[in-house]
Amino acid sequence: MKTRQLGKDGPQLTIIGLGTWAIGGPWDWGWGPQKDEDSIAAIRESLEQGINWIDTAPVYGLGHAEEVVARALEGYKREEVFIATKCGLVWDDRGRVDRNLHPESIRREIEASLKRLKTDYVDLYQHHWPDQKTPVEESWAVMVRLQEEGKVRYIGVCNYDVPLLKRCSAIAPVQSLQPPYSMVKRDIEKEILPYCHEHQIGVVAYSPLQTGLLTGKVSKERLAPDDWRHKSEFFKEPKYSRVQKLVEQLRPIAERKNITLAQLAIAWVVSQTGVTSAIVGARNAQQARENAAAAEVELTPADLQEIDALLADFRP
Ligand SMILES: NC(=O)c1ccc[n+]([C@@H]2O[C@H](COP(=O)([O-])OP(=O)(O)OC[C@H]3O[C@@H](n4cnc5c(N)ncnc54)[C@H](OP(=O)(O)O)[C@@H]3O)[C@@H](O)[C@H]2O)c1
Repeated sequence: MKTRQLGKDGPQLTIIGLGTWAIGGPWDWGWGPQKDEDSIAAIRESLEQGINWIDTAPVYGLGHAEEVVARALEGYKREEVFIATKCGLVWDDRGRVDRNLHPESIRREIEASLKRLKTDYVDLYQHHWPDQKTPVEESWAVMVRLQEEGKVRYIGVCNYDVPLLKRCSAIAPVQSLQPPYSMVKRDIEKEILPYCHEHQIGVVAYSPLQTGLLTGKVSKERLAPDDWRHKSEFFKEPKYSRVQKLVEQLRPIAERKNITLAQLAIAWVVSQTGVTSAIVGARNAQQARENAAAAEVELTPADLQEIDALLADFRP
């Protein structure tokens, strides 16, 4: 599978990474019931198809996703798979989640992640969401310390804007940013993506399928009652119908290219200047296979122009 360098001096990551939010199973922000066997099959199939990196987080299933990742990777050599995880969303014994990037909390979190992931080091450690209560300089300084101690190889952030990226970069380089990015969520194009490109900060884009909607296979009716997507603005009007309409407009392009809508949506994200890799969620081996094959899709300048004309008419 095609690879790109992560940031200025990072490793080669495949242009598609596997996301593991949904495979965490049920919690307040879960995606409904999920069988661990299916999750393990999704992870192994992704690796089989050539994907070389996995994105996870402690909070996905309140520890469960990291444990499932560890189970799926039994039998693999540690250096074969690049593991990214995060810190900054912590939960109490009633499962209530709060933001916390205090250095002491980050230190507790890395030890817990290493234990759950059954490893001595994490490849990419990321702040998950900004924490207004802790100066980012303190939260970033401890990441540098963890890197020096060898507990993490690279350090990055998620969901940060340019001012926060600048404050971190003043202390130590930011290897990567993980922002939301899809055909229907393009906020980063104005400022964040150009900034990262200019400063050689890797961009690993999340939710490229807009949590499944851009596959054309996911509908409100299909969701389990406890699926967090019921709370998503994209599953409410007017966005929901607008995206459905766009999907129907994209369908002929996918058919002409003999690819699926999911593959078209992923290929579009990784075709954008400044994007290193797209993190795509998969809940079973079949989804994993379909999504990984998107790495082979070539969108021509004419394809991109046609898609962009449709997107120009789309009102998010
Ligand atoms: N840093 C952050 O704050 C943050 C936030 C969000 C996500 N992320 C990361 O990014 C990853 C990807 O984002 P995401 O999981 O939110 O959304 P996504 O990749 O846009 O969509 C994934 C979901 O779409 C459905 N799907 C996937 N492939 C499909 C296919 N081929 N056909 C039909 N349906 C398919 C699956 O759900 P169903 O089958 O249930 O529909 C799957 O869980 C996450 O897993 C996580 O690792 C990070």
